[in-house]
Amino acid sequence: MELIDGKATAAQIRKEIKEEVNSLLKQGHKAPHLAAILVGHDGASETYVNLKVKDCEEVGFRSTLIRYEDNVSEKELLNKVIEINKNDEIDGVIVQLPLPSHISEEKVIETIDPSKDVDGFHPVNVGRMSIGLPCFVSATPAGVIELLRRYKIETEGKNCVVIGRSNIVGKPMSILLAQKKYPGNCTVTVCHSRTKNMKEVTSNADIIIAAMGQPGFVSADMVREGAVVIDVGTTRIPSTETKSGFKLAGDVKFDEVAPKCSYITPVPGGVGPMTRVSLLKNTLSAAKKEIYR
Ligand code: GUN
Repeated sequence: MELIDGKATAAQIRKEIKEEVNSLLKQGHKAPHLAAILVGHDGASETYVNLKVKDCEEVGFRSTLIRYEDNVSEKELLNKVIEINKNDEIDGVIVQLPLPSHISEEKVIETIDPSKDVDGFHPVNVGRMSIGLPCFVSATPAGVIELLRRYKIETEGKNCVVIGRSNIVGKPMSILLAQKKYPGNCTVTVCHSRTKNMKEVTSNADIIIAAMGQPGFVSADMVREGAVVIDVGTTRIPSTETKSGFKLAGDVKFDEVAPKCSYITPVPGGVGPMTRVSLLKNTLSAAKKEIYR
């Protein structure tokens, strides 16, 4: 069994990004600039956005954090997005989800200019991704694909089971893994809460992507000997062992599943750091106008 070290891989990619930023600066270009919008005071969202800002600093990006209280109107938020769309100084924008229930996430996402949508949530980017056109791919699936690439994991003709069908992870993941290129060319099955005989399906998988957000869902009896297991779960659960008072739990029962695997990602230190670095890669790509010219 080989552990897939997302933390080390992400650190290596941050180093590569930093070198590219330095070379852009030397050529007289500005540093890539990410704007992040955070509404309210949800603990997890605050943590994620703060980490995104910190990541930007580390690689030499500019960043702007825009905060609103929970009661901000949808109109005010949409106007801010429109203002950012027009601001040539800003290359990429993310609006941290979830948003309060009086604000339509769909409207907010659709208001972001696809060329600045570094989260890859806009239907234009999702549509382009699904037909294999250049686009921003949402950060978690992009991070998983990059891990498969960097660990040279064979994917062609493999049975891949994606557990979970969210717009952000499961759906894009299943499309990317079926694409006619490496990493891809898999025979993909998507499982979800209504799937019957889940164990029968997953036991036949060469690659399992666990992305349903249920701690410890995947047990050893669901996994075939030699499978590759990618754990996308990052549920925050209370813990007395950490300073913050919580710890991250994956969707896989790591201790019992790991001995059966050829490769497995841990939680934390697997997909999470790759998600963060993928946002940086998308922002760099936006600044270089690699996708939309
Ligand atoms: N909420 C949970 N994950 C994400 C993400 O990747 N981007 C944004 N904007 N919000 C999130």
